[in-house]
Amino acid sequence: MKPLPDWDALSFSLTETDAIWVCRGDTRRDPVWDAGTLRPFEDLAISVASPALSYGLGIFEGMKAQRAPDGTILLFRPDRNAERFRKSAERLTLAPFPEARFIEAVKETVRANARFVPPHGRGTFYVRPVEWASEARLGLGMVNGFTVAMYGSPVGGYFKVGGAPGLRLLVKEQGRVAPGGTGWAKAAGNYAGGILVSAEAKKQGFDDVLYLDARHVRFVTETSGSNVFCALRNGTLVTPPLDDQILPGVTRLSAIEVARSLGMRVEERPIGIDEVVADGAGLFATGTAYTLARIHSVTLRGKETSFPDDTARAAIFEIIRGIQNGTREDTFGWTVPVDQTRRA
Ligand code: COI
Repeated sequence: MKPLPDWDALSFSLTETDAIWVCRGDTRRDPVWDAGTLRPFEDLAISVASPALSYGLGIFEGMKAQRAPDGTILLFRPDRNAERFRKSAERLTLAPFPEARFIEAVKETVRANARFVPPHGRGTFYVRPVEWASEARLGLGMVNGFTVAMYGSPVGGYFKVGGAPGLRLLVKEQGRVAPGGTGWAKAAGNYAGGILVSAEAKKQGFDDVLYLDARHVRFVTETSGSNVFCALRNGTLVTPPLDDQILPGVTRLSAIEVARSLGMRVEERPIGIDEVVADGAGLFATGTAYTLARIHSVTLRGKETSFPDDTARAAIFEIIRGIQNGTREDTFGWTVPVDQTRRA
């Protein structure tokens, strides 16, 4: 049995838990996927010739399970992650994993690690489903053999901002992903190049970066790992529309739906960094890991602009967080409980 973490010292880092879930697939078989098994949290064997290692044929998901005050464990919109996992797989020429099985496997992973799901209000259990091309192959081309695996970790906040009023972002006048590329999918390779970019920004004292679009180098797109929203001075909430460079975030969608339910005007449209700087009253990042993170300021070409109005983000976050942790009635029907009775 792996040791439990200190619930009061959680950060967004890996705690190894009791079990991972692993499933092998081969498109030359029917059915393609085996039953999948729980195994101890351990290294898996992978061929050195796996195209995941050479060509980045890998995708992932991120989702959270939370404990309600009565001890129930709730997943948040797992159907959305299941759908995105399938679409990401198709884009990366991996075998699509059936959506119903994805949700069952997430539940099995959470159930097997239920003692690692933090007590209510003390943190969340982050589930990381992954899929990669596991068949050995030398040249570029389609493969038949795949692995889907899931693991999870109790986590706290993504950023250690302390008492500061939000994230300080450095605006990068470059794209996060290539135009016409895989930016809308949750491809492992979309994140690889950004690690150095954000590490360099952190060295300069920023918390993260804000990318512009790769075609015009003008419109805001995403941070290293989240979507973004801008609350304009006229009260309108704007977020970039889904396109080849924007990930269809589950938190992004939920924020749009909650904002509209609150009567806010929400626009999904391109928004230039010049408009954000001139007309933005509030700015925030949305993602499973980032939650709804307040952005204190953006720095473009050495000039810092801050966003003092946190009203929209705070109102939306209050509702989303309450639904996710079971303290607010789920009028949207978004949460899915995990049956905690272990199956034989
Ligand atoms: C998530 O929010 O779940 C992500 O996958 C983003 C990642 C950078 C942690």
